[in-house]
Amino acid sequence: MATKAKVTGKHSKGEALWAERERLVSSGSAAYTSVVIERALNAKVWDVDGKEYVDFAGGIGALNVGHCHPKVVAALREQAGKLLHTSFHVAAYEGYLDVCRELIRVAPGSWTKKAILFNSGSEAIENAVKFARAYTKRKAVISFDNCFHGRTLLCLTLDGKYKPLRQGFGPCPPEIYHARYPYAYRPPRGVKAEELTEHCLEELEKFFLVEVAPEDVAAIVVEPVQGEGGFIVPTPGFLKGLRRLCDKHGIVFIADEVQTGFGRTGEMFAVEHDAIAPDLTVVAKSLCGGMPLSGVVGRAEIMDAAATGAIGGTYGGNPMSCAAALAVFEIFKEAKLVEAARRVGATVQKRFDSFRDRYPFVGDSRGLGAMRALELVADKKTRAPLPAGRVKEILYSCVERGLIVIKAGVHDNVLRTLMPLTIPEADLNRGLDVLDEVFASFRL
Ligand SMILES: Cc1ncc(COP(=O)(O)O)c(C=O)c1O
Repeated sequence: MATKAKVTGKHSKGEALWAERERLVSSGSAAYTSVVIERALNAKVWDVDGKEYVDFAGGIGALNVGHCHPKVVAALREQAGKLLHTSFHVAAYEGYLDVCRELIRVAPGSWTKKAILFNSGSEAIENAVKFARAYTKRKAVISFDNCFHGRTLLCLTLDGKYKPLRQGFGPCPPEIYHARYPYAYRPPRGVKAEELTEHCLEELEKFFLVEVAPEDVAAIVVEPVQGEGGFIVPTPGFLKGLRRLCDKHGIVFIADEVQTGFGRTGEMFAVEHDAIAPDLTVVAKSLCGGMPLSGVVGRAEIMDAAATGAIGGTYGGNPMSCAAALAVFEIFKEAKLVEAARRVGATVQKRFDSFRDRYPFVGDSRGLGAMRALELVADKKTRAPLPAGRVKEILYSCVERGLIVIKAGVHDNVLRTLMPLTIPEADLNRGLDVLDEVFASFRL
């Protein structure tokens, strides 16, 4: 088993560059692997020493259309010769409008919608909260334990994991509250999985009596499947219950579809599995095939609630990113990637379920569509998480054998799949075989 992040040979170009990374780059930046990459295509990447990997991380869910999709590359090349930047605030351009039109078309909700574009998921979440506060004229915001919405100060305050996201960075913005998300594999003591939805919704009603009155709550921000928290699929009826509570109390329902969106779960947006429409949907990552772009799309009256000039930024909806996003929308239509996610997800699920049945340290196999995960444990009975150091051994061994796969979870013990939805079957099976080999040689 690999015990270090080293994946390249001694004196290799990769090792030399990795040493430079350590010397030059802030150690605050996470390092899931020590691969130094040179090029990538679809679901494969090659490091600077020519080693090939299957990519199950997909740029942390940003590459549902695959690395360097030819249509994205062509759109970028064409756009680069025409217009790189003006700032949308200075002069409008058609690409921005086209992306907003597409977002309005695909986002859930049959009411009149508007959209706006930013650069990152965090930035879009921050602005969704600003829209909700401006519209409701209320301050409080509720998010959930285990959730992840980003690393800016408001987002890290929303995050449902203290260490390392929030620790040492306070004071944090006030009026952010955390409620319980239904985590079926780790329910509160004495609560059965089938009672979890009701339990969490009842807790929320109590929360409104104890922590904050619902008429003071501007927004509930929720991931329809928790991503960084460990690919936690909420128990049936939970999201619908939240929607009902929001309707009852005039709270803005903000769905964070940054990781779940763009086909990942087998629907364009994960909330579609529950047939609900959020008031505001936050998008980023796979919206743009590897370029930085994010957005908020939702009810026009909420999107128009902020003062003109209060929302935006220099680069939001940059022409290059818009060109790439428009290519992504085309690829989704042509390649039927939502259906592809169901196919990829079914293959992964079958193998993951067999890993759960065969290996004593695979406690849970779960997910939705191609957003699948294995929760690794030290003991199947107690469900004690496999220590983070042991999980790293598994991840590094995968990398050594040519598979890039990353972790998630509050205990850092969840192995997750975010491979491109365009992944050829042979690459998918190769990656799953590597995992199987690594598991077979792992000893508790
Ligand atoms: C659900 C979710 N929301 C927000 C973010 C933050 O996005 P970004 O890293 O682009 O700021 C992430 C990033 O992983 C995410 O998974």
